[in-house]
Amino acid sequence: MVNSQIVLSVEKISKIYESAESNVHALKNICFQLRKGEMLAIMGTSGSGKSTLLNILGALDQPSSGKIKLNGIDSNDIFDEPRATDYRRENIGFIFQNFNLLKDLSVAENITLPLILQKYNSKEIEQKVNEMIELMGLTKWKNHRPVELSGGQQQRVAIGRAIITTPPIILADELTGNLDFNTSTEVLKVLVDMKKQFTQSILLVTHDPLVATYADRVLFFHDGQIIDEYHCSGTGDIEEIMGKFQNILGKKSV
Ligand SMILES: Nc1ncnc2c1ncn2[C@@H]1O[C@H](COP(=O)(O)OP(=O)(O)OP(=O)(O)O)[C@@H](O)[C@H]1O
Ligand SMILES: [Mg+2]
Repeated sequence: MVNSQIVLSVEKISKIYESAESNVHALKNICFQLRKGEMLAIMGTSGSGKSTLLNILGALDQPSSGKIKLNGIDSNDIFDEPRATDYRRENIGFIFQNFNLLKDLSVAENITLPLILQKYNSKEIEQKVNEMIELMGLTKWKNHRPVELSGGQQQRVAIGRAIITTPPIILADELTGNLDFNTSTEVLKVLVDMKKQFTQSILLVTHDPLVATYADRVLFFHDGQIIDEYHCSGTGDIEEIMGKFQNILGKKSV
């Protein structure tokens, strides 16, 4: 359930990439709010600033102007180290298109990493990791390395790793980009279940209207701006989302 509590408030975020030849205005005064337990999808044309936004929200990059409020508190110092690392560790779980698992570690070891970084004791770690592996349906694969798993299984490991410390915000960039239809559906259902169980807020970037139907709300990006919004409350109409997306794709040539 989407809660009325605002977890993240994005206030007039702009990003200009400067270079000797030209400046790219990747984000222009972006404003929106993410509520507790909300799944927010971002769709948009290539180069519209989606990954730039995720990088800023994850404190992997700094905005040129604007601010982020976390639970109502100004969080501008999150962009400076060492605060940025603490902010990421305490608040953000990342899920990537290419899974980004450590290839020499087992499934259990990959899922364990965030708990070690947050200094959980070994008893807590063992219990939490076993629970997560079971939740993700990975018991059989616990001691296997990522290369021995299918794409969907690897993405479930990545989801387990992202949520094991129950960070309030999950950021996902094209999490189904390397998965087929059935596997995408399976991974999305896992994510929605996890969101319900832990009341996390999820912001996911996607090109896929099917993925967006699982969201509570979709923001459409074009040329660094939010140009449309769609409320679907987890049962979005794929035709309607596709229509809006096509409309934005059409603007590409303008
Ligand atoms: N590090 C960078 N230096 C300079 N320009 C950049 C950098 N990263 C992104 N850009 C530019 O900023 C704009 C937004 O890029 P971004 O990667 O955020 O787009 P996107 O919406 O994620 O696109 P895609 O759907 O293709 O992943 C683009 O014009 C891109 O060329
Ligand atoms: Mg991108």
